[in-house]
Parts: sequence; structure tokens; C-alpha cells
Amino acid sequence: MYSNEVENSDLRKARASIAEELDAVSWYEKRIESVKDAKLKKILAHNRDEEKEHAAMLIEWMRKTDKKQDEAFKKHD
Ligand SMILES: [Fe+2]
Repeated sequence: MYSNEVENSDLRKARASIAEELDAVSWYEKRIESVKDAKLKKILAHNRDEEKEHAAMLIEWMRKTDKKQDEAFKKHD
């Protein structure tokens, strides 16, 4: 499935999406620290964890699509 077309389009979009999902995790973390209401804190923590799942889904797709990247994960596992 790896081709120049994927490299120039879908793979780049996946990388950008991974960065955005991880940024979202950090934003939620920051917001959780500043919120006083315990229920809102719990909702935000749930949402943060969903962003982690989104990042994981994209990373798994990237590993299956970018063999070199997959090798790097295996090397540093
Ligand atoms: Fe997300």
C-alpha cells in the first residue's frame, strides 16, 4: 500500500492528524489542571483519553502503511 501517492497525501494527513490528536491530549491536560468542578474534570479526562485512542488508531494505520516507520517502532520497542 506504500506508494508516492500515499506518501504525498494520505500519509502526510495521517502524520498531521497524529500531531493534532496529541496536541488535543495536552490541551485537555492543561484544562483539567485548571478546572475546579470535579464532574467537569472527569468529563475532560474522559475526552482526553479518547484523544489518546484516536492518536493510537492513526499510529497503527501509519505503521501498516509506512514500513520504515514501523521498523523504527520495532527497533525502539
Ligand atoms: Fe480526536
